[in-house]
Amino acid sequence: MIKPSVFVTRRWPAAVEAKLAEDYNVVLNTGDKPLSPAEIRESIKTYDAVLPTVTDTLNAEALDVPKAQARILGNYGVGYSHICESSARTLGLTVTNTPDVLSECTADIAMTLLLMVARRAGEGEREVRAGQWTGWRPTHLIGTKVSGKTLGIIGYGRIGQEMARRAHHGFGMDILVYNRSQVAPEVLAQCNATQVASVDDLLPQCDFVSLHCPGGAANRHLINARRLDLMKQDAFLINTARGEVVDDTALTQALMFDMIGGAGLDVFDGEPRINPDLMQCDNVVMLPHLGSATREAREAMGFRVLDNLSDFFEGRTPRDQVI
Ligand code: DGY
Repeated sequence: MIKPSVFVTRRWPAAVEAKLAEDYNVVLNTGDKPLSPAEIRESIKTYDAVLPTVTDTLNAEALDVPKAQARILGNYGVGYSHICESSARTLGLTVTNTPDVLSECTADIAMTLLLMVARRAGEGEREVRAGQWTGWRPTHLIGTKVSGKTLGIIGYGRIGQEMARRAHHGFGMDILVYNRSQVAPEVLAQCNATQVASVDDLLPQCDFVSLHCPGGAANRHLINARRLDLMKQDAFLINTARGEVVDDTALTQALMFDMIGGAGLDVFDGEPRINPDLMQCDNVVMLPHLGSATREAREAMGFRVLDNLSDFFEGRTPRDQVI
C-alpha cells in the first residue's frame, strides 16, 4: 500500500519525526524556517496531509487553491484560530488539534508568570545580572502576596481548570470564573470556584486575572481599555492564551500609568514582534510563548497528531477533529 504523503511545516521532537517517517512519506522543513502563505498554499496542493503549527498562517489567502491534494490539516497545538475555518470547509479539509496533553504545562507557565510579576522576579533577576544588587534591605523590591488572593479565570476549559487547581490547592486562592457556557457544578466544586455572568462582573473582584479563552476574531481585544479600567488598580493580568485577546496599546497605557499592578505575558499580538512601549514597562514579565515548551508536552503533542492522522487515514473520525 502506498503511504500517504505528509508535509511538516516546522521541526518536531526527534522521536515524533522518526515515527512519522516510519508511517508516512514525510517531507520535513529541515531548515525550520517559517513558511510564507505561498509556500503553505503549495504544500496544500501537493501533499495528502499538511501538519502546520500555531505560528503558520493558514488564512483565506494561504488556503486559496482551486483544488487541494491535502485532505487533513493535523495541527500541532491546541489553538487553531490561525486556520481560516470557512476556507478549510470549502476545501473539504479535516482539521485536528492537540488538546489535553499541554494543559498542565501551559497552566504551569501561567502560574510562573503570575508569581514572577507579583513578586517582581523579572526586575530582581535583571538587577542581579546587571551587577546592581546592593544587598538585602527592608524596602527592596517589595511585591504582592499571592496566597489567599482572588484569581479570576476567563475561559474555563482544560487549561483554565488546571490553572484553578494550582492556584486554589497550591496557594489557597479563591477562584472566580467567566466562561461562555455554563460550567458543570461538579467541575466548579473541584476548586470551590464561582462562575460569574460576564467579564465585566469578574474584573473588579479580582487580584489576578488569567486568560484561557481561544483567540481569533470572537475574542479580539476582549481585554480593552474599558475593561482594564474595571480591574483593581493593584491587580495583575496574565495572558497565556493568544496575543490578540488583549489590546496591547491599551495594556501598555495601563501599565505605564499604574492603572493596574502589572502583567505577565506569554503571547503577543503579531508575535514575535512586541510593542516597543511594552519593553519600557518594568511591571510586565514577558516570555517567548513557552506555554507548552516542555519535552514531555511537545512529544505528546506530536504523538497526538500521529493518532489523529492514523485515525483519518484508516477511515475513523480523528479523536481531535475540530473542523
Ligand atoms: C497552542 O498549542 O495553541 C499553544 O499556543 C502552543 O503550544
